[in-house]
Amino acid sequence: MAETVRILFIGDIVGRPGRNAVQKWLPSLRKELYLDFVIANGENAAGGIGITEGTAKELLNAGVDCLTTGNHVWKQKEAMQLLARENRVLRPANFPPEAPGSGWVVLSVKGKSTHIAVVNIMGQVFMKPILDCPFKTLDIVLEQIHPKTSLIVVDFHAEATSEKQAFAYYADGRVTAVVGTHTHVATADERLMPKGTAFITDVGMTGAVESIIGMRVNEVLYHFTTKLPAKFEVATGKVKMCAVLIEADAETGKALSIQRIEREGEVG
Ligand code: FE2
Repeated sequence: MAETVRILFIGDIVGRPGRNAVQKWLPSLRKELYLDFVIANGENAAGGIGITEGTAKELLNAGVDCLTTGNHVWKQKEAMQLLARENRVLRPANFPPEAPGSGWVVLSVKGKSTHIAVVNIMGQVFMKPILDCPFKTLDIVLEQIHPKTSLIVVDFHAEATSEKQAFAYYADGRVTAVVGTHTHVATADERLMPKGTAFITDVGMTGAVESIIGMRVNEVLYHFTTKLPAKFEVATGKVKMCAVLIEADAETGKALSIQRIEREGEVG
């Protein structure tokens, strides 16, 4: 029988409440869902913006195997060092080669005779126009990955749903899954694409429920209503974790299923 791999992808973790949620729920989810590998987007893990040595360590110790990021990756100074040192923390692959770290990594799957590639790519639509074409970047990265493994999960960190869907069709049949991140709002369109790639436009966030994309309501409302600058703070209270579970054939890399997984409650 073909070996299968069960991968959990956790959506954008926002600040302390998001990290607490992962620490609280991931150990039991690992058992309940028979998880083989866990990926999480951690670009908002530190105070709601960026990632630090400490926050990355917390998440890796909680059972995350690989962390992806996005447009906020360099917001905390120590991210430069972290990315250069820790191959389990990625930055988008379409940054210029001078950027520290890597946009993809191949890691072994514990307890299985297979390897998995995790790729992080950022979109261009409604994002700062600083990065290379995500589509061409995927071609370049896959050329390097395909001899190593066919089990490939791409975090496509992008704003526009159209660009995310276009990217999924471009990647269909060439990667195991394209998982959208960045908007912090889960979409209900998870599915298998015609050539076997699992896809969701956005997996959603792991952060406070009573918030505006994870940040405290008052300051964000003040900013929108007055057009004046405001210092945003991470919201607290009840937390929701948004994730997707992808099951795949380890040998062919084809996805067999994708489903949304959610947990909600107080996390201290
Ligand atoms: Fe983002």
